[in-house]
Amino acid sequence: MARGFAIVASLLLRRSAAFDDDEAYIVSAFQGDANFLWGSATAAAQIEGAWNISGKQASTWDDFCYSIPHRDTTDPDTFSKTCGSIPEGQSGSRWVTLDVTDDFFHTYNGDIDLLSGEYGMNAMRMSMSWPRLMPLNKSSGKHEVNPEGVKFYKDVFAMMKKRGVTPFVTLHHWDVPNDLSWLEDDIVNHFLDFAKLCFNEFPEITNWATVNEPNSICSGGYGAGVFAPGHKSTTDHLVCGHHRHMRDQSITSGNLARRATLELFSITSGHIQIQTVKQTIGQPRTTETIYLVSGLSLSSKPVITHRA
Ligand SMILES: *[C@@H]1O[C@H](CO)[C@@H](O)[C@H](O)[C@H]1NC(C)=O
Ligand SMILES: *[C@@H]1O[C@H](CO)[C@@H](O)[C@H](O)[C@H]1NC(C)=O
Repeated sequence: MARGFAIVASLLLRRSAAFDDDEAYIVSAFQGDANFLWGSATAAAQIEGAWNISGKQASTWDDFCYSIPHRDTTDPDTFSKTCGSIPEGQSGSRWVTLDVTDDFFHTYNGDIDLLSGEYGMNAMRMSMSWPRLMPLNKSSGKHEVNPEGVKFYKDVFAMMKKRGVTPFVTLHHWDVPNDLSWLEDDIVNHFLDFAKLCFNEFPEITNWATVNEPNSICSGGYGAGVFAPGHKSTTDHLVCGHHRHMRDQSITSGNLARRATLELFSITSGHIQIQTVKQTIGQPRTTETIYLVSGLSLSSKPVITHRA
């Protein structure tokens, strides 16, 4: 494990002034090494847009950014505070709601070209939109597979394959169908159905993560009330946490265990672990990248932080 750190450390010590930043140096050092995964990271709600078309149901975050209360909302004052802010030089409401964001739903071909071409990346972390893939059918009262949602992700994965980009897919990155609640037991079964759908429909995906920042969903959404669905409470974040934990248990025990990984996200090559984070909701295509070196007892500390 320590060897990985030594490799990076020595590379950095020997870095030449010819490279104007850490990222350029690391990319050049590893370019051509097929085992080195260099990626960017996103979430469905942050990039897809197309929030109300092709059969997609609204998510708790779509509603939150529109100040539409969820049955769990107890603090309407928090609405929209954590949704997008208008970037410098831009104007208009498209930055505030999740209606359009990066419009990845319509522009994924260009985005993946950019990723693999100009950015020189060969991996991408992304999430599946639960309300796009398994929306509520109001007539039947059930969450049913949305073929248009399946087709969208199939097309995205085909494009990634064509460009040599390895997908790392998070099942859930906070965008819950807006009729569900983390305070109710049945969300566990709903999530299990969704996870099974993803595993069955997308055998081409081998790198799965269960849930992004599980703690933040509960503490932000059901404690502080600053995230969707704006539920402020001193105790309910624990109820949320209990259900989230049950969900992880259901997925990672039994047959599904072979396909799911509890690791939230890690791309590992040798002993070097890289995490890159794409920008916040509604922001344009700027990137924040954090490089982590694992295996060291201090491994959770970013050793280099680069802001592009
Ligand atoms: C979808 O949302 C847009 C705003 O982003 C709105 O103009 C449009 O009418 C909505 N379409 C449907 C079918 O609800
Ligand atoms: C919704 O459910 C009804 C009743 O079961 C069914 O007839 C209809 O085809 C479903 N709609 C969609 C979009 O699947």
